[in-house]
Amino acid sequence: MSSQPHPTLNLDPVEIEANLEPVERATMLPPRAFVDPGVLDWELETIFSGWVCVGHASQVAEPGSYMMRELGTDSVVVIGGQDGRTHAFLNVCRHRGARLMEDAEGSVRRRVQCPYHAWSYGLDGELKAAPHMDGVEDFDPSCWGLIPVRVATVAGLVLVDLSGEAPEAEPHVGELAGHLERYRVDDLRRAGQAEYTVAANWKAIAENYSECLHCPGVHPELNALSHYMSGEVIEGAGAWCGGSMTLSEGASTMGREGGGAQGRPAIEGLEGEELSSVLYFVLFPNALVSLHPDYAMLHTLWPRSVDRTEIVCEWFFEPATIAAEGFDPSDAIDFWDQVNREDWRVCELTNKGVRTRGYVPGRYSAEEIDVHAFDVMVAERYMEALREREQVAA
Ligand code: FES
Ligand SMILES: [Fe+2]
Repeated sequence: MSSQPHPTLNLDPVEIEANLEPVERATMLPPRAFVDPGVLDWELETIFSGWVCVGHASQVAEPGSYMMRELGTDSVVVIGGQDGRTHAFLNVCRHRGARLMEDAEGSVRRRVQCPYHAWSYGLDGELKAAPHMDGVEDFDPSCWGLIPVRVATVAGLVLVDLSGEAPEAEPHVGELAGHLERYRVDDLRRAGQAEYTVAANWKAIAENYSECLHCPGVHPELNALSHYMSGEVIEGAGAWCGGSMTLSEGASTMGREGGGAQGRPAIEGLEGEELSSVLYFVLFPNALVSLHPDYAMLHTLWPRSVDRTEIVCEWFFEPATIAAEGFDPSDAIDFWDQVNREDWRVCELTNKGVRTRGYVPGRYSAEEIDVHAFDVMVAERYMEALREREQVAA
């Protein structure tokens, strides 16, 4: 959608190639990838201009209910239409360019109205009213609707593609969709939300999520509920990586009070090992999806600068579970809120550390297979751009 040329990616192809080696030989991403504002500018223009997860479909299920997300200097509104479809637009009025929505979520009645001079738009983006434009020459209101953004819903997740040019959303989510469907993510409803601002690069947060090597030291409570070595990598087609962890004897979920789940039933249809596992996935680039026997948790990462990331964390349960008398999700929410904060602290430590002069990128342990899998998704994008640049230079 942007007509500006991409910012130049100032990375050394030799260092990126070293990351693309098999994990046993690979070297981690170079520090510059985490500290150079130019790299983030490039990532926003490329990676974050393709499919990005904005949230859960239930948040825009009702006509007029919307989510607003900022991506660099761009901003997008995803809104439920009166036609039952999900629409997405750039969050900018076609008159003098005011931002339309300022809240991250909310609902409007039948119209989106600009707070500046009150141009109003239908939920499908069509311009409905524009004061004092009647006598304006060659002004056709049908050409001045909100600028549409490509949007897709896959297995309960809403994704937008600002570029309008990414390959289809279904192969992007790929075989992760089967896991999401198994946990009926589409049918779940939100029962909790938390927002965080973390002084770390968005990739460091995704990397941290992708390993539990740090769990014994950083999250003793979590490690008691699922041992850090219980994990297994899950592979499949699509732009994601992930794995499972096995719940310890006596725990039926991740939550306070020993993971007793407060008597909540498991998600309908789960069976066997699924009842004693938690699945963790990173859907590239910005969604962390955690599937528990009785609930799902979604983190979405929103880079604000090279060393600052806003994170929205949401908890989803079955509607029948939410409706049951005495439903109280605080065991799950409080547990993960603590784990989140423990994670942000170590992400912030790496953010400080990697900018130390003399630091050179490390090597991956046998417990960081998924960290490498995530980094490779990033490194492949870097490499494409660096190769293109070499071809242009040749
Ligand atoms: S900028 Fe929106 S109505 Fe004027
Ligand atoms: Fe952690």
